[in-house]
Amino acid sequence: MNDKLKIGIMLGSTRAGRVSPQVGEWVLKKSQDTGEASYELIDIKDYQLPLLGEGKSDGIKRFKDKLNSLDGFVFIVCEYNHGLSGALKNALDHAREEWYHKAAGIVSYGSAGGVRAAEQLRLSLGELNVADIRTQVFFSLFDDFKDNQFTPRSVHLDNLQQLFKDVNKWASALKQVR
Ligand SMILES: Cc1cc2nc3c(=O)[nH]c(=O)nc-3n(C[C@H](O)[C@H](O)[C@H](O)COP(=O)(O)O)c2cc1C
Repeated sequence: MNDKLKIGIMLGSTRAGRVSPQVGEWVLKKSQDTGEASYELIDIKDYQLPLLGEGKSDGIKRFKDKLNSLDGFVFIVCEYNHGLSGALKNALDHAREEWYHKAAGIVSYGSAGGVRAAEQLRLSLGELNVADIRTQVFFSLFDDFKDNQFTPRSVHLDNLQQLFKDVNKWASALKQVR
């Protein structure tokens, strides 16, 4: 049980021109300070997941294997039409037990901080036995981005550190449950 926790920072968008990699990279950089867990970026685009049930891809098994290797998640969540991106919902739907009894934090962005998409994600996480922590970091498209470049305000840093602490704590506790 001395192994470091493994937490995946999951990019929630796959479209050309997306900003989620910028947000995910920044979160990854800040996570290096926690020391308790090892964080890595997971880009669902890399797995080329077909729409559920509409095709075969070796990416499906690779995605499930990756989920199996993780103790928790930080979801990088954008908001499309007041909800989750189809890509992230499809990725959630592709696995089941692989998600179970793990912890998650949410970092969202949008015109209203992406909070509507984040709340929608929490509903699905409940069904997947993922314990989502309360602390959330939400970025404004107006104040934390300039010309599509991510320029986060320092005011978010305390919240992000709290998110890491909570995810690590719950991921550690749920490791015992699994
Ligand atoms: C199809 C679509 C729908 C969108 N709907 C919303 C919305 O309802 N609320 C919002 O705050 N932003 C909305 N946006 C703006 C996105 O939040 C913004 O483009 C963000 O950068 C998307 O994340 P991504 O770049 O990682 O794909 C929408 C963008 C797209 C492409």
